[in-house]
Amino acid sequence: MTKTIALLTGGGDCPGLNAAIRTITRVAHDSNGWKVVGFLDGFEGLIQRRYRILEPDDVRGIMRIGGTILGASNRTNPFAYLPPGASKPVDASDRARDSLEAVRADALIVIGGDGTLTLAHRLNREGFPVVGIPKTIDNDVHGTDYSIGFDTCVATVTDAIDRLHTTAESHHRVMLLEVMGRTAGWVALYSGIAGGADIALIPERPYTLDDLVGVVERRRAGSKHFTIAAISEGSSSPSGQPIYRSKTGEPHAWRLGGVCDHVASELSERLDREVTTITLGHLQRGGAPTATDRILATRLAHAAVAAVNEGRGGVMAGIAGGDDVLVPLEVVAQGPRTVPGNHPLIRAAQLVGMYVG
Ligand code: F6P
Repeated sequence: MTKTIALLTGGGDCPGLNAAIRTITRVAHDSNGWKVVGFLDGFEGLIQRRYRILEPDDVRGIMRIGGTILGASNRTNPFAYLPPGASKPVDASDRARDSLEAVRADALIVIGGDGTLTLAHRLNREGFPVVGIPKTIDNDVHGTDYSIGFDTCVATVTDAIDRLHTTAESHHRVMLLEVMGRTAGWVALYSGIAGGADIALIPERPYTLDDLVGVVERRRAGSKHFTIAAISEGSSSPSGQPIYRSKTGEPHAWRLGGVCDHVASELSERLDREVTTITLGHLQRGGAPTATDRILATRLAHAAVAAVNEGRGGVMAGIAGGDDVLVPLEVVAQGPRTVPGNHPLIRAAQLVGMYVG
């Protein structure tokens, strides 16, 4: 039977979204003869009924391009929607549902991070079948080992650490690189290891200024006159506070950023020398997806279309222990997936000489 699949990309963009859009469109059309409707700018387009029909020709050549051809919004909540010019949010979930009915959608595929997929879970509970696909450079979605965009982000940060090595060594510097990840330390841990950083600070673990001073001094005593640290934006300052660059809206939407400056100012006093900070920021979300992200996106998108085909709703396509899994959206909705204290990579990093705080 011919179906119509609606699709949206929500939350912050990342490389690999277009590869997923391409797969959904091709598999739906070519294998099943279904129609695909892409809502624009995430939930915003769903509420405002802005969409485009996706034909196979529309997705030709997009796999290698970062971002999303559908656009994304990371502040729109259909259950607390702030209409343009309004001062108070309203429940616009009916409007979202009406849009899906207007295009005769049989199911909605939502490609998003934990925030977007939590909203997808609520829409599903209200009776509209929703299937999720995890994407986020933070890799903090429950129910899957990897999310689309993480591998590319790690490659970008690793390249940045490689580049910092030569200048840090030439100038005998301590360099602190601030990376994204919100409350999860996956980006700092993975790219710190891959780039051979001397220190990785992740939000899940405590550290002290004494520890950091100790790392720099031990290296100096071993004739290594430079130190590189990968520091997660969600790590606390040395005095134990999370650092935000803006505090607009609900607390969960506050933007982290600036912890490296706090660490640097306290560290430079203790070391009696300059400490340099670098913030990679949104560069970590840009660029062409790696081959691994293209493959992951293709695999998850294919599994999501298969789930729609089987009439499954309220699930997310994920990868667990190398296998394809369909996870209930309520598992995903439990909040961000942080790095467990006993993660084998923490021990491996320590054994190769990296301080993980
Ligand atoms: O969730 C992805 C992410 O890139 C986080 O790592 C970061 O804290 C946040 O988005 C930045 O969001 P914005 O684009 O709103 O500044």
